[in-house]
Amino acid sequence: MSDTRRVLVTGAAGFIGFHVAARLAAQGIEVLGVDNVNDYYDVALKEARLSELRQHPSFRFARLDIADSEAFTREMAAFAPDVVIHLAAQAGVRYSLDHPHAYVRSNLSGFLTILEACRHHPVSHLIYASSSSVYGANEKVPFSEHDRADHPVSLYAATKRANELMAHTYAHLFGVRATGLRFFTVYGPWGRPDMAYFKFVQAITEGRPIDVYNNGEMERDFTYIDDVVDAIVALVDHPPSADPTFDPNRPDPATAAAPFRIYNIGNHTPVRLRDFIATIETALGRKAEQRLLPMQPGDVPATYADVDDLSAAVGFSPKTPIQEGIRRFVDWYRAFYLQEAVTR
Ligand SMILES: NC(=O)c1ccc[n+]([C@@H]2O[C@H](COP(=O)([O-])OP(=O)(O)OC[C@H]3O[C@@H](n4cnc5c(N)ncnc54)[C@H](O)[C@@H]3O)[C@@H](O)[C@H]2O)c1
Repeated sequence: MSDTRRVLVTGAAGFIGFHVAARLAAQGIEVLGVDNVNDYYDVALKEARLSELRQHPSFRFARLDIADSEAFTREMAAFAPDVVIHLAAQAGVRYSLDHPHAYVRSNLSGFLTILEACRHHPVSHLIYASSSSVYGANEKVPFSEHDRADHPVSLYAATKRANELMAHTYAHLFGVRATGLRFFTVYGPWGRPDMAYFKFVQAITEGRPIDVYNNGEMERDFTYIDDVVDAIVALVDHPPSADPTFDPNRPDPATAAAPFRIYNIGNHTPVRLRDFIATIETALGRKAEQRLLPMQPGDVPATYADVDDLSAAVGFSPKTPIQEGIRRFVDWYRAFYLQEAVTR
């Protein structure tokens, strides 16, 4: 993308938002990061990401809650972005079982703020995060955007699916050009401490047992962060337009007569949890003590992405094998946490 553009990135203190903002700012693109830096997980990690971002002269930061539509809209109007990349959300499946209101606030009210801001301060493209969890009770794999996804099994997933439907409405009514990305377990350096790979590395390093759900028989598409950022940056210059082939008599959920698209963004290579753990053990040079547990409510046994559409749109082709990605995560984890332990 050209470096005269201005990009607003929500969730910039978060894992994916940090990486996207860093990549764009490193190219000299003016980036406004937005985040409320909430304490869902380690705030020090979020602040450390922001410190990294502040080293780029073209990065600015606004600390605000996207559910506060006045505050957000003021920043949006002043910055006048060409593109909005919306990655702020209350993430996590398990947390949604006990904290449902956090999801309604950030993911529904917050998302409405973003849509309204894009309606009144038009941008060339709104890219927003959805999730593989929208496939919910679907069992046909690989998951395809062209399959219906109407049976979410967690409130988190329901809010993400709702975002897609809300985006369609704004694309249809107000011409907001919106692309939703269904992420499949993104991992890598500066990752999220609530996710299994992070907890595994932490526990094994500290000599604690790890909880392995469904006896390690679950399958996940682990997508390395740099591959995700490559795709997002490539998509910026590919806003959707109305699909002339859309047939309202046989509506395809992935596309529309409005400027609206949905893409899976996964690695297209499912990995069994037990093999994933073996990869972490190799990277750490240490064996895990495993506590085998049943499936958790709201969890799904297998997620695996069909990425043909994203490949066709922007040549998406994930490059990072799991062994390499995990090794890079472990290197970062050791440098970040072991160094911090010394200086704190
Ligand atoms: N990481 C993954 O594997 C994955 C998978 C599927 C979907 N997603 C989605 O991708 C997006 C980014 O995920 P992530 O892994 O970077 O998560 P993250 O939790 O690291 O980042 C989200 C950021 O949003 C901020 N935030 C939350 N609510 C906010 C609010 N109301 N106002 C302002 N800021 C707020 C948080 O402080 C956080 O820094 C999210 O929408 C998430 O649901 C991620």
